[in-house]
Amino acid sequence: MKLPKKVTLKEVGPRDGLQNEPQQVSTEHKAAWIDRLSKSGLSYIEVTSFVHPKWIPQLADAAEVLSSITRQPGITYAALVPNRQGLERALQANIDEISVFMSASDSHNKNNINKTITETLPVLKEVVSEAKASGKTVRGYLSTIIACPYEGKVSPEQVKDIAARLFDMGIDELSLGETIGVAVPPEVERLLEVLLPEFAAERLAMHFHDTRGLALANISKSLEMGITIFDSSLGGLGGCPYAKGASGNVATEDLLYMLDAMGIQSGVRMEGLIAAGELMESILGKPLKSRQMEIHRRGGK
Ligand code: HMG
Ligand code: MG
Repeated sequence: MKLPKKVTLKEVGPRDGLQNEPQQVSTEHKAAWIDRLSKSGLSYIEVTSFVHPKWIPQLADAAEVLSSITRQPGITYAALVPNRQGLERALQANIDEISVFMSASDSHNKNNINKTITETLPVLKEVVSEAKASGKTVRGYLSTIIACPYEGKVSPEQVKDIAARLFDMGIDELSLGETIGVAVPPEVERLLEVLLPEFAAERLAMHFHDTRGLALANISKSLEMGITIFDSSLGGLGGCPYAKGASGNVATEDLLYMLDAMGIQSGVRMEGLIAAGELMESILGKPLKSRQMEIHRRGGK
């Protein structure tokens, strides 16, 4: 098996993790958690989103979070932006990088951002071009890359067509969101077989939710196919509130265990993640569900 020697982990817990957390977390606690994450060797943290506060009340304090954290050199602090208004708020908060997002299926897109795919494309085009003009790098997210919670299976060709539209707009990287956590490795293989002849592997990231415990199997398949950027969420927190039943992302610490044991470098340190996990457990007053946190609670056995 040919595997990459080095990968990048993109921590999305403060955004994807918290956006689905029913218990309101204070700005102070969010900032303390992000600061702890900043000490674990991560080079990228998605800290919040500038969406409508009524749609995601947990992240209504996006600007305050950005002004409360202590930014560390060498770390990109990013946020989700759905439209021009979100971009203006993000730029005012001096964000390092923005992420635009949409789905490969119309129903999830409509439920999530209140527009069809066709209506969304010009909105994102304008956001990407303005963000670029402001000197920001732009990440794109494409959700429901394998299946949609409303429509069922999504074809790789549909994913390829929308991915091409997003790259044409000028995004720097595309994160492929397996939003509901139903995929199995042969489906990931088939999708990447369609995408990789069109787009460079270095510009694709995989974003697996772990609803059925298959995220690591799918990451393993993606590694084999040359992908080197993976999104994950500390403690496996998270999910999309507009994809019913979908649980959190693959836990960063569980992914790190696999990568370390496979000899693949990420620059991230397990002790740093565990410390951030302990802090979040005390903030939420409940144990985090990842395997590594469970093992840590059992005293490392
Ligand atoms: P809308 O209601 O269609 O917006 O929502 P609108 O453009 O018609 O405007 C309505 C009102 O909202 C106006 O105010 C706007 O000013 C205001 P009014 O005139 O009524 O007082 N407004 C805003 N306010 C603050 N910030 C903004 C903003 N935009 C408009 N940015 C909208 C459209 C996109 C705003 C809404 O649907 C929304 O915020 N959706 C976000 C949903 C979301 O965050 N979902 C989760 C993230 S995606 C995800 O988790 C998937 C991912 O992880 C990958 C994967 O797992 O697959 C990325
Ligand atoms: Mg997600």
